[in-house]
Amino acid sequence: MYLGIDLGTSAVKTVLVDGAQRVLASESRPLTMASPHPGYFEQDPAQWIAAAFATLDALKASHGTELAAVEGVGLSGQMHGATLLDANDRPLRPCVLWNDGRAAAECRILEQRWPGLRAITGNKAMPGFTAPKLLWIAAHEPEIFAATTRVLMPKAYLRLVLSGEAIEDVSDASGSLWLDAARRDWSDAALAATGLSRAHMPPLVEGCAPTAKLRSELAQRWGMARCPMIAGGAGDNPAGAVGIGAIRPGTTFISLGTSGALLAPTDHIAANPDRVVHTFCHAIPGMWIAAGAILSAASCLAWAARLFGVAEAELLAPLGTRPQAPSPVSFLPYLAGERTPHDDPVVRGMLDGLSHGTDRAAIVQAVLEGVAFALADCRDALGDAGLGVTEADVIGGGSRSRFWLAVLASVLNLPIHRFADGETGAAFGAARLGRLAVTGEAIETVCTPPQRVETFEPDRTLAEAYAMRLPAWRELYRPRH
Ligand code: XUL
Repeated sequence: MYLGIDLGTSAVKTVLVDGAQRVLASESRPLTMASPHPGYFEQDPAQWIAAAFATLDALKASHGTELAAVEGVGLSGQMHGATLLDANDRPLRPCVLWNDGRAAAECRILEQRWPGLRAITGNKAMPGFTAPKLLWIAAHEPEIFAATTRVLMPKAYLRLVLSGEAIEDVSDASGSLWLDAARRDWSDAALAATGLSRAHMPPLVEGCAPTAKLRSELAQRWGMARCPMIAGGAGDNPAGAVGIGAIRPGTTFISLGTSGALLAPTDHIAANPDRVVHTFCHAIPGMWIAAGAILSAASCLAWAARLFGVAEAELLAPLGTRPQAPSPVSFLPYLAGERTPHDDPVVRGMLDGLSHGTDRAAIVQAVLEGVAFALADCRDALGDAGLGVTEADVIGGGSRSRFWLAVLASVLNLPIHRFADGETGAAFGAARLGRLAVTGEAIETVCTPPQRVETFEPDRTLAEAYAMRLPAWRELYRPRH
């Protein structure tokens, strides 16, 4: 029996998976995000722990017998967050999250201080990444910077609480700008450019490696017979890749979570930092992931639902299962700024083409299309890195909308495949890593692709109409700096 815990942005999701890789149970507890200033996004680490523990308490109540037999635990998490700990491993302030835009000036400073940054990390310095956040803290909260003894990504903090050990996996570490992506090791030059050293960083492991055991008092709390082993785990996107068997080149997939991404596993580093392609180590040894990442995907739909005061399902129902024609309205999904391809933390979203006749359905369709157009930008950026995309699987909460997948197929002009359990991708992938850490089985044996339940083919007329619209949609973007 294995557990996968995904510390996301909007929720902590925990799945219980058996030896035949069946998801026996799944529990989720919501998380809230604080925005103390426009463009700033933070979360209190105590909230993550309370939510994760609540999922496990609930599993104990509903599946106590199965939980008792858990041998391996895998962790997945929202990437890039800076969790700053004091000498007693207590958080010094709320975690600065992946979508936080405050450290734009610090990115320029970092690239000036260390010209090797793009070549070594494979990434452009962007405010969402961890290193510039530390420079911001040093400048604006010097007493906190001085007291910082350790910097952990969110799921590594969860591991610390679960096991007492501070350990990072290479996939999450590659979202920090402190990792030498080719050597899969911390870069001393990168750390020095941020005023830090290896002493602030936990040891690194691969995603499927064993790290530390669950504390005995927690194993007792959840009625576990033994203290299960915790695997290295992975950032949410690499963990999602493991969940759908995207472990080798040629298995491109889209993540439609709070954020969105188009991701391509590679057996070499296919960097294109100038076009804001992200380079991550995969959760699988010897593999990397090239990603176009957008900051707002399913969160755009959540925004529309809040705006109209209805549930997302109610918003989507009138649209049916496929669009007849592009919406007359255009939407830029830059509600929290954008990474690929603009690296622009201050740009904001836009609705264009409103008229007296515009109804709610036209706006909702435009929102879904705007996210799809942003993913078309990601496809082109990956293409510039030499990674052609011919089809894509989809994971994440957004994959539940058949209308959205039909839009994506025609906007991207690609077949799009959906899985039955797409929305539990990252937690399921984490559980697989938990299993690999315990059994040492061959990766290919465990990380098989699940059954695709449906394929959305591009509609020729619609695809042509969207291809005509794309240049005008791109024209709407105006940098604000
Ligand atoms: C990836 C990214 C997001 C977060 C939150 O670069 O910032 O996908 O991992 O999901």
